[in-house]
Amino acid sequence: MKNILVIGAAGQIGSELVPALRNKYGKNNVVAADLNTELNAEILQDGPFYKLDVLDTDSIVKTIKEHKVDTIYNLVALLSARGEADPQLSWKINMGGLVNLLEISREYNCAIFTPSSIGAFGPSTPKDKTPQDTIQRPTTIYGVTKVAGELLCDYYYKRFGVDARGVRYPGIISNVTAPGGGTTDYAVHIYYDAIKQKNYSCFLSEDTSLDMMYMPDAIRAAIDVMEADPARLIHRNCFNVTAMNFTPKEIAKEIKKHIPEFEISYNVDPVRQAIADSWPNSMDDSAARDEWGWKHEYDLKSMTDDMLKVLKNR
Ligand code: SER
Repeated sequence: MKNILVIGAAGQIGSELVPALRNKYGKNNVVAADLNTELNAEILQDGPFYKLDVLDTDSIVKTIKEHKVDTIYNLVALLSARGEADPQLSWKINMGGLVNLLEISREYNCAIFTPSSIGAFGPSTPKDKTPQDTIQRPTTIYGVTKVAGELLCDYYYKRFGVDARGVRYPGIISNVTAPGGGTTDYAVHIYYDAIKQKNYSCFLSEDTSLDMMYMPDAIRAAIDVMEADPARLIHRNCFNVTAMNFTPKEIAKEIKKHIPEFEISYNVDPVRQAIADSWPNSMDDSAARDEWGWKHEYDLKSMTDDMLKVLKNR
């Protein structure tokens, strides 16, 4: 039986991962924790829910002992654009949080999931079908923390036997909690604005190609990689995972099939455009497919059908 702590539970991934984990492992076996106890309180209070700071070792240890936690999902991070606005804070939260949780995992024998990202790649990385093992020289602080995090997780596994695992997510599209401060966020905002006002002003240029994934697939990836047979894992930290690949022009075209009057315009933000341009166009996720059976379900068409249906009903 797993006893799980999800830290950063109120964010974009956590607010959907916590209900999925509670559904699978039982409500009381999944502890949700976040610094912000207002956001998504209703969802998270469906089981144990604590206010916790990822840097507060004593409070985390107390929670781990009290709930006999054996698995940690570490979802605390400042995303790419937010990181460029405050690189020092990004390092403090992203790396400080991870170092703290890895040490706790070592001492209390916990498995730990930490997401990495397409942001762990940089301009010198092969851009198309980016391989699992390749050049990683990111130019954002977010990417620097992600590469350092991947290496540190591998180190804790090899040196101390900590069962650290992770995936490199592409942009994640969701309809429960909006992401904040990311470069791929446009692909979430576009659906909300399409419904609300039938137009969207995009901060990336029309031909910017990035890998993306719908949240149900992202949740499955997080659960499946932690459930995977360790004997089959060669990579552990961190598996490329992807589901689809599109540009702003292509997602707008797909939305137009449902909302013909929808229009997209472009007001490019140089900071986020430079970040997007430094990332791969597409990733090769065959290692995840081979080592633990990763397989996406949603493509651009089925995701758009679902996103628009859900948001219209709301
Ligand atoms: N979605 C993240 C961002 O845009 C990338 O992992 O920052």
